[in-house]
Amino acid sequence: MSEAGQQWDTGLYDAHHSFVTRYGADLLDLLNPQPGERILDLGCGTGHLTQQIAASGATVVGMDHAAAMVEQARANYPQLTFFQGNAANFQVDEPFAAVLSNAVLHWVLTPERVLQSVYRALLPGGRFVAEFGGQGNIGLLSAGILAALSSLGYSPPPHPIWYFPSPAAYATLLEAAGFRVALLAHFDRPTRLDGEHGLRNWIAMFGGPLLVNVPPDARAALVEAAEERLRPTLYRDGVWYADYVRLRVVVLKAAG
Ligand code: BEZ
Repeated sequence: MSEAGQQWDTGLYDAHHSFVTRYGADLLDLLNPQPGERILDLGCGTGHLTQQIAASGATVVGMDHAAAMVEQARANYPQLTFFQGNAANFQVDEPFAAVLSNAVLHWVLTPERVLQSVYRALLPGGRFVAEFGGQGNIGLLSAGILAALSSLGYSPPPHPIWYFPSPAAYATLLEAAGFRVALLAHFDRPTRLDGEHGLRNWIAMFGGPLLVNVPPDARAALVEAAEERLRPTLYRDGVWYADYVRLRVVVLKAAG
């Protein structure tokens, strides 16, 4: 995970947002890690996916922008290597055969810089496999929160928070960075949130940047107002869903 200004609660992340790792496991098939390959997990969070890559026999290193995530990843998997780094500006001592990134790149508002850094970090012939929010991601969810903010007299956040590109826009950036686009998919993935408090847990975990204009003691009322607005569209048969839309890519650096 990486986002300046976002505070990460690693306990809440591991307790109620395991779907992030679960869906990330789909990417492993595309990554197809081979024993002995060096692989970078870009935005490793608390390290669960990093560990799954390592189980394939690859030599994996996890990187995250958030010190709290790196610390928790090291505690979860002391046998693995994790370091703190910025997806938009990192250098590696030894290039990787592949870079994987799950549910991270929407946090970085300078995607060209991410792609330059990833390209630099790959060996010739290396592959980059990533999934993150694409155009339309959390359209209903964020509109409900913004409407709740407005109804209670709060201003929306001042700047764009997330980067959810269209497939065409992202393909253009990938090619400009030098990659060959082998696969690019843009698809809906309604994502089941854990339990009766799924939506408020999601907002607590990820929605902080939307609530910067709400004083801490008014946040519970804001969240209740958001729940009321979103219940007709995102709550079905006793379960909250986030209206996720994913962009998934497999791209290659030329063999040289
Ligand atoms: C996502 O995984 O799509 C996401 C997570 C947190 C904030 C925004 C989007």
